[in-house]
Amino acid sequence: MIIFDFITIFPEIVAPYFEGSLFAKARDKKLLRVRTHNLRDFASDRHHTVDDSPYGGGLGMVMKVDVWHKALAKVAKLKVSGKKFKPAKKDTAIVMLTPRGRKFDQRMAQKLAKMKQIVFVCGRYEGVDERVAKNIATMEVSIGDYDLMGGELAGMVIAETVARLIPGVIGKPEFLKERNGKEGFFESAQYTRPEVYSPKKGINWRVPKELLTGDPKKIGPWRQAHGKAI
Ligand code: ADE
Repeated sequence: MIIFDFITIFPEIVAPYFEGSLFAKARDKKLLRVRTHNLRDFASDRHHTVDDSPYGGGLGMVMKVDVWHKALAKVAKLKVSGKKFKPAKKDTAIVMLTPRGRKFDQRMAQKLAKMKQIVFVCGRYEGVDERVAKNIATMEVSIGDYDLMGGELAGMVIAETVARLIPGVIGKPEFLKERNGKEGFFESAQYTRPEVYSPKKGINWRVPKELLTGDPKKIGPWRQAHGKAI
């Protein structure tokens, strides 16, 4: 069982995605759980303030370190040893989502799939007070070199990529092995019937002949050449 925790000011945009399809099945099979937590519940004032203006000036707002600390203390069960704040359990990852983080890829997903809990720190506004990344998060991750409006979509991309690596989530174990058997290789293009499709008279879209041979010595190299290695 792996738990994905999203801490966000927009839990209502995250939760529904994980309520349908394969996620619902995986939850019923007790393979994973997705929990959302509203950051505002951890604010101490009556307006539930989570942000403030940046030191040094500038436009926009910055999310407050004290509010994030309280949220993460509870969700990741932070423990203090000396000056370090760490999740109580070694197999908890606290993922700070930021375009400045390490670029997410399939290999990182394989490592994250070994965790028991992944807590996604979904920042909004101009960002999160850097003391959260420095002192609490266990990693900073980006899903690509572009700016989103917040970390929610990035966390959802990571959760989905990790979830499908968990045996039983996308069907039979053989299926997972076939699709993820070779680390760092994305499966080749696929075809199914009909062998020839004619969208218009005189135009024929054909299935590559190698795939029709039934000969693994021809199919294997074709698939190798038409996949993508990273
Ligand atoms: N937050 C905003 N943009 C992001 C990105 N590209 N990756 C991760 N988190 C983000």
